[in-house]
Amino acid sequence: MKKIIYSLFCIASASVMMAQGNNYVQDYTKYQNLAMTPPMGWNSWNKFSCNVDENMIKQMADAMVATGMKDAGYTYINIDDCWHGDRDAKGFIHPDPTRFPSGIKALADYVHSKGLKLGIYSDAGSQTCGGRPGSRGYEFQDALTYAEWGVDYLKYDWCNSEGLKAEGAYKTITAALKKAGRPIVLSICEWGTDKPWEWGQNVGHLWRTTGDIFNCFDCIKDHGSWKAFGVMQILDMQKGLRQYAGPGHWNDPDMLEVGNGQLTPSEDRAHFTMWSVIAAPLVAGNDLRSMNKESTEVLTNKEIIALNQDKLGIQAFKFAENDGLEYWAKPLADGDWAIIFLNRSTSAKNVDFNWAEQKVYDDINKLDASFGTITYNIKNLWDKKDKGTATTKKALKANLPAHDVIALRLTKKK
Ligand code: GLA
Repeated sequence: MKKIIYSLFCIASASVMMAQGNNYVQDYTKYQNLAMTPPMGWNSWNKFSCNVDENMIKQMADAMVATGMKDAGYTYINIDDCWHGDRDAKGFIHPDPTRFPSGIKALADYVHSKGLKLGIYSDAGSQTCGGRPGSRGYEFQDALTYAEWGVDYLKYDWCNSEGLKAEGAYKTITAALKKAGRPIVLSICEWGTDKPWEWGQNVGHLWRTTGDIFNCFDCIKDHGSWKAFGVMQILDMQKGLRQYAGPGHWNDPDMLEVGNGQLTPSEDRAHFTMWSVIAAPLVAGNDLRSMNKESTEVLTNKEIIALNQDKLGIQAFKFAENDGLEYWAKPLADGDWAIIFLNRSTSAKNVDFNWAEQKVYDDINKLDASFGTITYNIKNLWDKKDKGTATTKKALKANLPAHDVIALRLTKKK
């Protein structure tokens, strides 16, 4: 009898346990209402690669405020690879004790005290690209740790991920972040290998579309087993992706190289303008503490940034090209348009643009600029001199230097 009662007790407790176990339904979808416009911030990788430490990150937060970048809309201070120390006996990750002796929580508090947000980096595989501990097998523990530290943004890389399927791996970290309970932007960094634009919309807030950017305007850098791409190469690789971008879910053509010394001032301008209109995350990758006036002016051009942060969140499209001169359009809220002339060739080009003859139609969003019937006021967003003086009644004639842009905002004439 005792035996029977004991068996019944065991069955009863097992079913209670199972019932309890079944109560939690794993949620594999991202936090909603984050990154409703492309995220803006700074990341350590392009300039500093593995050389990160807490003092430098704090100084970068200070500089983001002092340079006017915070005022212009930049929010995230993101630590990329190599902040990691070891896992402890229970598997919890700790920062490198020499580089981050005060810990990430103290750093997050500092960044928050400046009105900014903190981003961190991990990897879906066993190790990060820089050989630090990856999150594979520790996803829920890591997400909990980041949430406790007060992290706001996670870039999640794809090195050493052999045997993993991208969609599943990124859903696992999204579920872990959800369970940890802090709204954290998830930046999917799997280089476009498994077409994240097709499955990423409810998994992350942005996804890299390509391999790494290389600090040149028009070149490919062959690293042997992998290649990095110049600004123009990355721009070309965005073809066919605009339909996937929108509020809360963005194509990410990688971080900016503005101010990193290899691009000329006009190339910096062209790079920043094109990233802005293709609704890319605007993540600066230069040393904000020592940037010169030109770079500051590029990164804080509020009218160019307004194109990027437009609430419709529509990615620009190329509507014509001729001999290295490209014509791009971005529909904006309230019927405005951004029109960009990009000279990617190595010689100056004459622009002779007769508005009334141009058909500019966004076939995904069914929006027509109707230049033949509507007159717009034109603002030149780089050459402050022309501001507010032109309309689409007259053809636009200009000489556009090599590797430069003309960026215009068109507003319906009342
Ligand atoms: C990959 C990413 C880069 C950077 C490095 C860090 O290459 O694509 O953006 O995060 O790893 O090791």
